[in-house]
Amino acid sequence: MPRRPYVIEEMISAKAIAARIEALCREIQAEFEGTDKLVVVGLLRGSFVFIADLVRELDLPIEVDFIEASSYGDATESSREVRILKDLRGAIEGRDVLVVEDIIDTGHTLSHVTRLLQSRNPARLKTIALLNKPSRREVEFSADWIGFDIPDEFVVGYGIDFAQRNRNLPHIGKVRFIE
Ligand code: IMP
Ligand code: MG
Repeated sequence: MPRRPYVIEEMISAKAIAARIEALCREIQAEFEGTDKLVVVGLLRGSFVFIADLVRELDLPIEVDFIEASSYGDATESSREVRILKDLRGAIEGRDVLVVEDIIDTGHTLSHVTRLLQSRNPARLKTIALLNKPSRREVEFSADWIGFDIPDEFVVGYGIDFAQRNRNLPHIGKVRFIE
């Protein structure tokens, strides 16, 4: 697929992200205080940077697992059907679970994944997303914690890609096509 040229404009600085994660982790810590084991589940691949920063702010007994759901392919339009490409390695029955997502857009991915995980009877299932685009919602879904509500812009960086690129950008930027 030929790539249209684009520039990336900074939307959320690395410093602002770090400060927000610190605040969120104080709330998460309070919620799960006393847990015997929290399984932190990252949705691949976009959450890999977020989950890395998140778990290092949590002073709780945690395990980390990953699940991968199909999403956009290489376009900027959401596909409606969600498929599980890679399932968790461990069982979550009776466990506390925190699902970590990079961004909630239409809501299809997280509503599908949380329904699936809920069917495995965890003790507690909570969700966190770094970014949220409320204006794009097609199915009702609200996460327990949100880093930032953002407008309807296509964003990259901090783990989030455009056709697999720009995941290594340390901040969140918006994509602006220049032709
Ligand atoms: P949803 O199922 O429409 O909520 O889509 C969620 C998934 O779409 C996220 O996990 C992202 O991988 C992807 N996505 C949504 N918005 C963006 C964006 O602005 N940039 C990059 N990926 C996005
Ligand atoms: Mg994703």
